[in-house]
Amino acid sequence: MSESRIDLRSDTVTRPTAAMREAMARAEVGDDVFGEDPTVRALEEAMAHITGKAAALFVTSGTMGNQLAIAVQTRPGDEVVVGEGAHPVHYEAGAGAALSGVQFTLAGSGGFYTAQDLAACIAPPAPWTPRVTLLSIENTHNRSGGRVWPAAQAEAVVAEGRRLGIAAHLDGARLWNASVASGVAVDRLCAPFDTASLCFSKGLGAPVGSALCGPKPLIDEARRLRKRWGGGMRQAGILAAGALHALAHHRERIADDHANARLFAERVASGDAHVSLASTQTNMVLIEVGSPAATVAREALALGVGVAPISATRIRAVFHLDVSRADAEEAASLFTQAVERAKAAS
Ligand SMILES: Cc1ncc(COP(=O)(O)O)c(C=O)c1O
Repeated sequence: MSESRIDLRSDTVTRPTAAMREAMARAEVGDDVFGEDPTVRALEEAMAHITGKAAALFVTSGTMGNQLAIAVQTRPGDEVVVGEGAHPVHYEAGAGAALSGVQFTLAGSGGFYTAQDLAACIAPPAPWTPRVTLLSIENTHNRSGGRVWPAAQAEAVVAEGRRLGIAAHLDGARLWNASVASGVAVDRLCAPFDTASLCFSKGLGAPVGSALCGPKPLIDEARRLRKRWGGGMRQAGILAAGALHALAHHRERIADDHANARLFAERVASGDAHVSLASTQTNMVLIEVGSPAATVAREALALGVGVAPISATRIRAVFHLDVSRADAEEAASLFTQAVERAKAAS
């Protein structure tokens, strides 16, 4: 457990609210491996509707959603095109190679790519070239600080993919944030893609789970693989109830997290640290601290603020359900002190 009073390391650190716990405790349940859990079924129907897809599958995590999407849309030896910093490349324990036998190729820079970047990844067909069968876009993009993919750019990339015979997956772990920030509805953001994975355990503040959404045959196959991978859950309605509660009560308030991130970014940027305000588009703030990031994080923790060093001199702060506006103001002031202390110590 973090010793910090204000924990900005990630939006996954939230605790379920009292109302969410109550909804979870009251959930009607059944054996979901038999397809008999009414709450899981309600969540899957709700997610199919929200994303505009024919079907949805409740899965344990965003990692499982991404990996099932890869598994059902590729064959071993295939190549998957992603942007720089893509979650499956950096944070999924090599699962693409281990579970589906695929390799990744990076398009564009900073997590974003264009139709031309995609086309440039495709070698002329030859017996020695891997088949590129899937592209993936991450919206919002985590490693670049929660930046939003412009809807038109995503549409153009996926259209180019279609022309080249490449299927499209949306890693929408934080698509809720992208939708709130851009004002574009979730189903429109999902429309170009074959499959989309959205998380309940980040901006929405539920304790567990994600949904993989897409056409019924792909989701049926993903359901089979989920069982094979040990992800078949029994009375999972208890978890699905937390997600349903979050969908009903925590979507609109994500705008508060974005406002808190901006407030923090503006205050911190006026001190010794450098923040790109143009890149602060959702609930994350990336700060270039000039001193070793680990030292700044240690000083911040000593003052009661948890932050995540993500490179030698860069720190990430993430705003979420458990951080109030007053917390954001206090965190900005304490973090600025931490930067000054680290500078004085170096
Ligand atoms: C962009 C992105 N995709 C997928 C995931 C994976 O989610 P999980 O931690 O639930 O496996 C994350 C987690 O932070 C993420 O940031």
